Amino acid sequence: MATENTRILSRMVALLFLAPLSMAWAQGEIASSAKGANPHTESANCEVCHMLPEAKLKSLSVPVSNKQSLRADLVAVCRKCHGVGFGHGVGKKPDMNRESLPLGTDGTITCAITCHNMHLKDATDWHQKRYHLRLPIGKLCISCHNK
Ligand code: HEC
Ligand code: HEC
Ligand code: HEC
Repeated sequence: MATENTRILSRMVALLFLAPLSMAWAQGEIASSAKGANPHTESANCEVCHMLPEAKLKSLSVPVSNKQSLRADLVAVCRKCHGVGFGHGVGKKPDMNRESLPLGTDGTITCAITCHNMHLKDATDWHQKRYHLRLPIGKLCISCHNK
């Protein structure tokens, strides 16, 4: 068990510090590599991603399924601004998914909803909140990986 945890940890460390994308994040280069103004703030224009305007998205009388309607599919909506290095395993079917992370309708990993939750309300730590992760990183990776 201890060995397995160590392996998971070293993978995480590798991903966080060695992967080019993570390095870009660590060095704060995302702002220049991602195109456009940051849409991930409360005051941002919701229609960057959504079909409906803010008022409808916040209305209690509009069904959630309508609110979830996006301008592009669950990968393209993010890749509009983020490069191809963004995310891994996207478009593939995971062999396992212990935490039942949401997948695309075809069972594949997506950018917008599998590992990320753009409207996270109950983040347990700063890292999860900072990167809009659906689960804290310690739980996220082992949903699909053993080590
Ligand atoms: C960067 C893209 C992006 C922006 C900008 C964005 N959203 Fe979303 N939103 C999403 C995604 C992705 C989902 C999940 C869609 C799904 O589950 O299929 C979502 C879902 C929702 C939902 C459905 C309930 C839920 O939480 O899943 C609401 C309501 C919502 N967004 C409101 C807003 C409002 C209000 C704004 C502007 C202040 C906004 N969104 C801006 C990407 C975005
Ligand atoms: C309109 C362009 C645009 C779209 C669309 C977009 N992003 Fe971003 N994103 C940005 C910018 C710009 C930043 C850099 C923010 C900063 O560093 O201040 C960013 C930063 C991030 C970060 C790093 C954490 C942060 O907030 O700084 C994550 C994670 C992220 N985006 C995920 C997503 C996901 C997932 C989607 C699709 C649902 C998405 N983005 C769609 C432009 C975009
Ligand atoms: C939703 C499932 C899922 C989650 C969550 C996930 N992965 Fe993966 N991961 C995959 C799939 C699928 C592949 C295989 C890609 C391939 O076949 O090329 C993969 C491949 C990898 C690889 C091999 C190198 C590569 O990029 O192909 C590493 C390392 C890795 N993941 C680390 C992580 C880490 C660290 C986390 C947590 C931050 C994580 N994974 C979260 C599904 C997932």
